[in-house]
Amino acid sequence: MKLPKIEILDEKNPILHKVSEEVTFPLDKETKKLIDDSLTYLEMSQDEEIAKKYDIRAGMGLSFVQLGILKRIFVVSEDMGDGTFERHVVINPVMKSHSEELIFVGEGEGCLSINRPVEGIVPRYARCTFTAFDENGDQYEIRVREDISIAYQHELDHLNGILFVDKIDPKNPFKNKNKMREI
Ligand code: NI
Repeated sequence: MKLPKIEILDEKNPILHKVSEEVTFPLDKETKKLIDDSLTYLEMSQDEEIAKKYDIRAGMGLSFVQLGILKRIFVVSEDMGDGTFERHVVINPVMKSHSEELIFVGEGEGCLSINRPVEGIVPRYARCTFTAFDENGDQYEIRVREDISIAYQHELDHLNGILFVDKIDPKNPFKNKNKMREI
C-alpha cells in the first residue's frame, strides 16, 4: 500500500490556532477522499516498519485543521489489537457529558503537528460521550474511554484552535499529577 500524500502543518503555522467551522452535508468527493486518506495514513503510521520506511511518526488522530482546512472534522484510528483498526469519522462533534475522573498520558501526549519533545501532562476526562455526524451526514452518539477519550478531546481542541502544548503550564508542567490517573 502506498502512503497517502497528505501534508501535515507544523505548530508554527498560525492556522492551527484558528477555530474550524461547522460542516454542511453532503460532503464533496474531495473531503471524503481526504477523510479516507487521513485514516489510511494513521493506520500505516502505527505500523513500525512502515513508519520507519517513510520516516513518519505514529499517530492515532488527525484533524482537518492540521491539513490547513478549517472544517470541524477529525478522524481517529483505533488499534483493535488484532491487526485491525476501527475508523472513527467525527464531524461537527459536541461533547455531551464526561466523567469526573481525570486521566493523563504518562509519557506525554503526542501530536503530528508538534515535532519536538514536550515535557508535561494534560488533564483529560477518563470517559466522555459525544454526538457527531459521519461522512454520510448521519448523526450518532458515541461513548469513549481511556486513550480514545483522550484522542477525542485532543482532536476537539484542534477544532477550537488549541494545541495540547497550550494546556501545559511551562512553570509547572506536571501540575496536579497526583490528582489524576496515569494511563
Ligand atoms: Ni494533535
